[in-house]
Amino acid sequence: MLFTLFACTLPLRESGLDPTGDGSDVPFGDTAVDLLPFFPRGPAVSPDGGMLRGISILPHVGALSADSATVWVRLIQPGRFRVLYRPVGGVLQQSSWVSVAAEQDFAGIATLRNLRPATRYEYAVEVAGGGSSPFRSFTSLNLPGQGTARVGFMADGRSELPAPVYGLLGSANLDMVLQIGDFDHRDPYDVGGLDPEAWWDMYRDLLGGEASGVDIQQLLLPTTPLWMMWDDHDYGSDNGFREMPYRDVARGAFAAYMGRELNQSGDFWTRISDGPLDIFLLDLRSDRDSFAKPDGPDKTMIGASQWAWLQAQLSASTAPFKLIVTTVPFNPTTEKVDAWFAYEDERQRLLGWLDQEQIQNVFFVSADIHTGGAIDDGTNAGLPELNLPTTNMHSEHCTAPTCGSWSEGVYEGDDRAGYGVVDVRYSGGEGRWVCTLSTFDGQGRRRHSLRLLGPS
Ligand SMILES: [Fe+2]
Repeated sequence: MLFTLFACTLPLRESGLDPTGDGSDVPFGDTAVDLLPFFPRGPAVSPDGGMLRGISILPHVGALSADSATVWVRLIQPGRFRVLYRPVGGVLQQSSWVSVAAEQDFAGIATLRNLRPATRYEYAVEVAGGGSSPFRSFTSLNLPGQGTARVGFMADGRSELPAPVYGLLGSANLDMVLQIGDFDHRDPYDVGGLDPEAWWDMYRDLLGGEASGVDIQQLLLPTTPLWMMWDDHDYGSDNGFREMPYRDVARGAFAAYMGRELNQSGDFWTRISDGPLDIFLLDLRSDRDSFAKPDGPDKTMIGASQWAWLQAQLSASTAPFKLIVTTVPFNPTTEKVDAWFAYEDERQRLLGWLDQEQIQNVFFVSADIHTGGAIDDGTNAGLPELNLPTTNMHSEHCTAPTCGSWSEGVYEGDDRAGYGVVDVRYSGGEGRWVCTLSTFDGQGRRRHSLRLLGPS
């Protein structure tokens, strides 16, 4: 029933993609493409016994810059795919063929290069041997230091529940959305031990197989790039850290599903440069010490390699605003055992280093306390911080022992779904860059906001 509902509500687009997979390119034309069979779980046959047309989970853009984009897709079996794309109204281009295999659950990414900045593109996936996806679209980012940045953030969801917030994010005119942890709370290690299928099954559900996956496919991914970073519950288990037995299994599954290339050291942390905003997306699970380790100069949440990378990146950044994305609260008044509260020595090292190096206009976006959102102007957190509302959890509110003090407020209550937006633009009237942090509720109404005044 889920399959039928979803398939019938996909927008029907037109395609000139080669349906035979013989390699010949056909300009976009009048040929109506079949609605893509959608079957996120299980065998390579449809419910009526017929073969599907090659794709298991619809493609989406998983990483984006001013001149490149990655397109993620999962096939139903070993095979090859490529991406056909063009600027709207422009000339058709194609990516290289990409092979997928069982070891990565038949998931893969194609990288589109030499894009024009701030340009709308449409793209579709072609499967070797037959099959294609509907068309989807994205807009490449602004060049560093130019234009505006408008980025959506979400965190803390449950795959089995609907997520209407995706519809609000999908219509909020965002450059992209970052999902920054606990995309699901099923704890795959607890579900399946060291079998990677437990992680793959979670990601398949999140991207199409369960209620929130249907919503994300219908409401968000057709138009909006999705960056992903994990926290403990999608890493494997509650309060997970470096020494967990599933670390390598979890990292393999996330590498297959996060929708982008690994960084130069083979890890997940990365920088996203969006016009006037540099975003430093941290992995705070792979290399962290256990929360139970006594605090002190040897206790880390970031790890030595990521520390060195972050310092080098922040020192080199010339963006008017610099955003550090931390999947757990930075504000130490939020007394959660796996948050920065319990890593105070390292927290002070980061603040002290930023101050010593005079790196200004830095702020944080965090998550993981399952409220309706919170914002602090730096009074409590040390620097400005936005803590995200949950996407769709029914969590009985703040799940930290104390949610702490937030200068602009913390929204506690029942089922307070929502999302966050960071907006950076140049204010001609004020003669400077301005960054606005906002939390929104599940109806798209603004709850908190804070304006940060940047350089002229
Ligand atoms: Fe969570």
